[in-house]
Amino acid sequence: MTELLVLVSPSANRVYADVAPQLMVAEIRCLATGFIDSEVEVEATEIAGVAYLSVRADDLGPSGVRALSNLSAVHALFEREGELLRPVALDRVDTYPSDLLTIQKYPGKTNEQLTRLLLNVTAAATARPQRLLDGSLDVLDPMCGRGTTLNVAMTYGLDVTGVDIDKKDLESYETFIKTWLRQHRFKHTVEAGALRTGGQLRGRRLDIEAAPTKEAFKAKATQRVTYLGTDTTDLAGLLRAATFDVVVTDTPYGVQHGSHGDRIARNPLALLDAALPEWVRVLRTGGAVGMSYNRHVAKPGALADLLVEHGLDVVGDPDDQRFRHRVDASIDRDIIVARKT
Ligand SMILES: C[S@@+](CC[C@H](N)C(=O)[O-])C[C@H]1O[C@@H](n2cnc3c(N)ncnc32)[C@H](O)[C@@H]1O
Repeated sequence: MTELLVLVSPSANRVYADVAPQLMVAEIRCLATGFIDSEVEVEATEIAGVAYLSVRADDLGPSGVRALSNLSAVHALFEREGELLRPVALDRVDTYPSDLLTIQKYPGKTNEQLTRLLLNVTAAATARPQRLLDGSLDVLDPMCGRGTTLNVAMTYGLDVTGVDIDKKDLESYETFIKTWLRQHRFKHTVEAGALRTGGQLRGRRLDIEAAPTKEAFKAKATQRVTYLGTDTTDLAGLLRAATFDVVVTDTPYGVQHGSHGDRIARNPLALLDAALPEWVRVLRTGGAVGMSYNRHVAKPGALADLLVEHGLDVVGDPDDQRFRHRVDASIDRDIIVARKT
């Protein structure tokens, strides 16, 4: 039996700092199904007054250590050596500096650690979870706002596509990412313009190709970010079938964040019902959809029924409360994952 101790990262976000250990226990159990071959036991523990998560398995294997190194809020990993703790080198996939995820602050931003957790948990549910860590997972966030998922995917070295109907979100993302890439001197190209199909104007699009080094850019070892500024319920003709391994999104909460587009969708279930046919079409067989949602506006049972109606298999019990956490008085957040088999 091997044991690794996970030290949870201190988060500047109070809500997330309070719930991160609980969420990470559930996250580790999900990652274990995708990355660790033997039975895994996870529990909170305390050593010399400091909280850790203990992960025990007959064999964690290199892929298990790698998966734990990329948990949403991991700060450090240790092994026990008698009375002492020995650091285990983190095997992070991070391709770009972490300020890509932390600089942007705006009302309605999805916490970057929660976004990472959602991507991890959804990828672990696919038929090919290792694609998360080898850079080949294709990611779609069909309601990407100002791009937290786009930035998390880029950090993982993945290609990603985002869609959002709010024109201001695309503009803000474009300004941010162009400035960030320029200031960090990462070689990149940007193309922005009208989004058209068959002579019809469908919105705006932004295409970015970037690499963390000049050599990687030259060798075409790049990350591609595509942002389609359009309605996610009307994607026909814009994305090819079976293109994505995961569809991950933080769904509208039915509350208004300043000028943010959440006001557009007061009834997330109706929005999802209209959007799911295209999301399922562009998902590869063996791929998975992962969504965070507000239980005040969508009940887990109703959401699970909707996913099943659209041909997906819900992973686990949608009301097991493992990822449920209170964000504020109006948001009782949870996560649901479903597979395309
Ligand atoms: C909870 S926010 C996502 C926030 C995002 N993860 C971020 O960190 O910036 C939900 C998003 O859904 C978008 N949305 C609502 N209805 C939509 C539709 N019909 N098509 C595309 N996007 C939509 C909103 O504009 C909003 O940006």
